[in-house]
Amino acid sequence: MLNIHKITVLGLGTMGHGIVQSFAAKGFQVSGFDKLASVRNTVKERIRANIHSAVTVGFSDKSLIDSILSNFRICESEDEALQDSDFVVEAVKEDLELKQQLFGRIEPLVSRNTIIASNTSSFPITQLSAHLNFPDRTIVTHWFNPPHIVPVVEVVPGEKTSLFTIDRTLDLLKKAGKSPIRLKKEIPGFLINRIQIAMLREILDLLNSGVADASEIDRAVKGSIGLRLAAIGPLEVIDFAGLETTGKVFQSLVGDIKSDQELPAILKEKIDLGHFGVKTGNGIYKYTDELINEKIARRDHCFLELLKLLYEGKTDLFNN
Ligand SMILES: NC(=O)c1ccc[n+]([C@@H]2O[C@H](COP(=O)([O-])OP(=O)(O)OC[C@H]3O[C@@H](n4cnc5c(N)ncnc54)[C@H](O)[C@@H]3O)[C@@H](O)[C@H]2O)c1
Repeated sequence: MLNIHKITVLGLGTMGHGIVQSFAAKGFQVSGFDKLASVRNTVKERIRANIHSAVTVGFSDKSLIDSILSNFRICESEDEALQDSDFVVEAVKEDLELKQQLFGRIEPLVSRNTIIASNTSSFPITQLSAHLNFPDRTIVTHWFNPPHIVPVVEVVPGEKTSLFTIDRTLDLLKKAGKSPIRLKKEIPGFLINRIQIAMLREILDLLNSGVADASEIDRAVKGSIGLRLAAIGPLEVIDFAGLETTGKVFQSLVGDIKSDQELPAILKEKIDLGHFGVKTGNGIYKYTDELINEKIARRDHCFLELLKLLYEGKTDLFNN
C-alpha cells in the first residue's frame, strides 16, 4: 500500500483545525490553507489551547505541543498547501457548488495517487466528484465536532470510489488514532446525522409544544439515554430491555411520534431572528463570551474523561 506522508487540510475553521491537529499529533506532515487571514492567523493558537485541555486530563504532555505544531505548516495559497500532498481533506462550508468547484481545482494540482476526501455533513461523494476525471480516488471522511477528540469518523465511498482508496483511507484514520466506520451504502446524511435528525425532530416538537423546558429536556436526555449510549450501543440497549418489550413500546408510541417534514417552528423562528446559537450569543439558550469558553472547556474536559474511561486507554489521540 502506498504510504501517506503529507496531508493537506483546506478550511481551518471549527472542523479543519481539529483535523489538522489529529494528523499532526501522529507525526504526519500537514499543510493547511484557509481563505480568511484571520482564521490562518489564529489556527495555531486554537490547536495549542486544545492540547492544553488534553494535558489537564493527562491525555498529552505539555512538552509535545511544540513538536505537534512543528508538523503543521500554514500556507498562503491553495496551490502551496496542495504541493506533494498524498491525502487532501476539504473542510470548507457546506455548499455543494463551492465544494464541487474546489474539487475541480484540487484535481489538476495533485498526483494521480492522491486521495481527495470531503468532510461534508450531507453531500454524497458521487455528487461532489461528478465532474472529476478520476473520481475513484475521492471519498467522504465525516469527522465529528470536536474532531481532535471524538473517535468516530464515518467513511463513505461513492459509486466510483476504488477499494484501494477505501483501504488507504481506513488505514490512515486508524494511524491517526481514530475509529473509522465504513458505510456499505452511500446515503445522504450517512449514519449519524440521520439518527440525530430523527431524534431532533421529536425533541424540538416536545419543546415547541411545551411538554418541558429546554433545560429540563437537556437534563433528562443527558442523565438517561445520553449516559447509557456513551457506554452501550442502541441495539445492545434493546437486547437488554427485551425485544418484546421494545416491540410493544414501539407499536404503542410510533403513531404519536412527530413524522412530518416541516422545519420545526421553534427552529425557524430563531433562524429568522438571526439567533444561530453560540456563533451569535443567542440560540435555544443565551450566551456571553465568557460562558461559551467555559462551556467548551467543560465539554472537552468531560469528553476526554469519558474517553479515558470508555476506551480503557486504548485510544491515543494526542501522542505520537
Ligand atoms: N461544525 C460541525 O459540527 C461539523 C461536523 C461535521 C462536519 N462538518 C462539515 O465540515 C465542513 C466545515 O464545517 P465547519 O463547521 O468547520 O465550518 P467553519 O465555517 O467553521 O469553517 C469553514 C472554513 O472554511 C473556510 N473556507 C471557505 N471557503 C474556502 C476555500 N475556498 N478555501 C479555503 N478555505 C475556505 C472559511 O474561511 C472557514 O474558516 C462543512 O462541510 C460542515 O458541514 C461540520
